[in-house]
Amino acid sequence: METYQVLARKWRPRTFSELVGQEHVVRALGNALQTGRLHHAYLFTGTRGVGKTTIARILAKCLNCEAGLGPTPCGVCATCCDIDRGRFPDMLEVDAATNTKVEEMRELLDNAQYMPVSGRFKVYIIDEVHMLSRSAFNSMLKTLEEPPEHVKFILATTDPQKVPVTVLSRCLQFNLRQMPPDLITAHLAHILEQEHISCEPAALPLIARAAQGSMRDSLSLLDQAIAYGGGQIRQAEVRDMLGTIEQDFLLAILRALSIQDGAALMQLAQNMVERSLSFEQALQDLAALLHDLALAHALPEQQEALGIEEALMPLAQIWDAQTLQLLYQIAVQSRKDLPLAPDDAAGFRMALLRMLAFQPEIPSSQPSQPAPQTKISKPVLAVAASKGPPPSPGDWLGLVRQLSGAGMAYELARHSQLLRYADGTLHLLLDPAQRHLMSYKEKLRMALEALLDADIRVSIEVGPVTGSSLAATEEKDRATKQQNAVDSIRNDPFVQAVMGALGGKLVESTIKPKQEQDQGEI
Ligand SMILES: Nc1ncnc2c1ncn2[C@@H]1O[C@H](COP(=O)(O)OP(=O)(O)O)[C@@H](O)[C@H]1O
Ligand SMILES: [Mg+2]
Ligand SMILES: [Zn+2]
Repeated sequence: METYQVLARKWRPRTFSELVGQEHVVRALGNALQTGRLHHAYLFTGTRGVGKTTIARILAKCLNCEAGLGPTPCGVCATCCDIDRGRFPDMLEVDAATNTKVEEMRELLDNAQYMPVSGRFKVYIIDEVHMLSRSAFNSMLKTLEEPPEHVKFILATTDPQKVPVTVLSRCLQFNLRQMPPDLITAHLAHILEQEHISCEPAALPLIARAAQGSMRDSLSLLDQAIAYGGGQIRQAEVRDMLGTIEQDFLLAILRALSIQDGAALMQLAQNMVERSLSFEQALQDLAALLHDLALAHALPEQQEALGIEEALMPLAQIWDAQTLQLLYQIAVQSRKDLPLAPDDAAGFRMALLRMLAFQPEIPSSQPSQPAPQTKISKPVLAVAASKGPPPSPGDWLGLVRQLSGAGMAYELARHSQLLRYADGTLHLLLDPAQRHLMSYKEKLRMALEALLDADIRVSIEVGPVTGSSLAATEEKDRATKQQNAVDSIRNDPFVQAVMGALGGKLVESTIKPKQEQDQGEI
């Protein structure tokens, strides 16, 4: 039976042309090999899994291939095959992370004086060279200073800062780049095709992004995804599989929020930038977690039946029901606002800061009690009522604006359109995207009663609003303001001159109207 060979090993490039990216290194080495102007020591730097060891081995083949010295080793001679298998007598691979002892280094280097057994050159590949002990470095330095003609050093490290200058200065250094996600995606697709493994194309960019620039990591994730999907790769399953990474971040964010640690929140957001996680996805998943928390809070005994993660349970006790609703609302709204943010990371940070700002003054350390049934508090009514004379129920937008202090009831009103007012009943139409606000119907009714000082009934249907909800009106205003901003710039004589002279084009999305009015947003 054939044993399964991990993809990263099976697909190690054997020639420069099979290598993905790193063209700058390939070109320089290729030229040197072609012209025979070889350095005696090379240092490859770069993060894990970008091709350092791979290039070192290809270079060893180039130097020793029986078909001749050059940039394209034959790949079939005994020497090429032995090097591919890692057992060529004149190639010595040392992992400095495990062999840092000076005696071993000395023994190895003592060998350097002898002529190669079968190749042109003795090739020393020293991986993670920064891990060598001080004395091992010194012993290597002697050979580096006066290298025999037949010796080549190929050093590799993820941490060049830790390599002594005396060593650095004797090496020709190449910095390998991180793999861009699109190159990883294309490479994975190529490998899957060769392996006859079916795959939903949308799954691969998820893996590429999660690999953070490391081709090896991407291949390990691909191995996992194949195992996870039983030999097939589906987007949803890959998302599940990778989700655990993001999930850990989101849990940490909720914990930081619960203790109101703003610095930790910003640090977590920064770490997410570095891992290039998707902030849109993160906000969506954060909303899902907050939803679970709200459920767990309301029905603590049914955690298992509801399928709520164990890790969430301690958090469910920290916030009251209303704060959870608010946090949820911020996550949902911020996700919608993401296209308006300067960039996704900024939008995400603002969402976290909003959440932080809307934490209750003192996070309740009391044992959780069932939240008091939504009773609108006096201060909220006072705010709502103090904004001028009560408008008529027919002036819906005016009415809604006066509810701006009423929290979630305001949100519900803001996303609803008035269908009609008859016999003391307000018939509203709620934007389907906001149907989760339906649960604030009673709160809204009470706020309206207080505002209008009359008995009010509220009836809400869900359906596409036609543009006369406050939210839709504000959105329209914003679009108009944007268009005005674009127009005023387009009509600016200077801009017109520039566009005329240079054939420039206006990128409208980069134009922002001046300072948005405070629209009473959360
Ligand atoms: N530039 C690359 N092109 C194609 N595959 C790569 C590349 N870099 C790494 N890999 C894959 O990752 C595996 C490990 O790469 P390696 O060269 O050992 O990385 P490191 O930079 O850590 O030494 C290789 O066997 C190969 O499958
Ligand atoms: Mg390596
Ligand atoms: Zn060969």
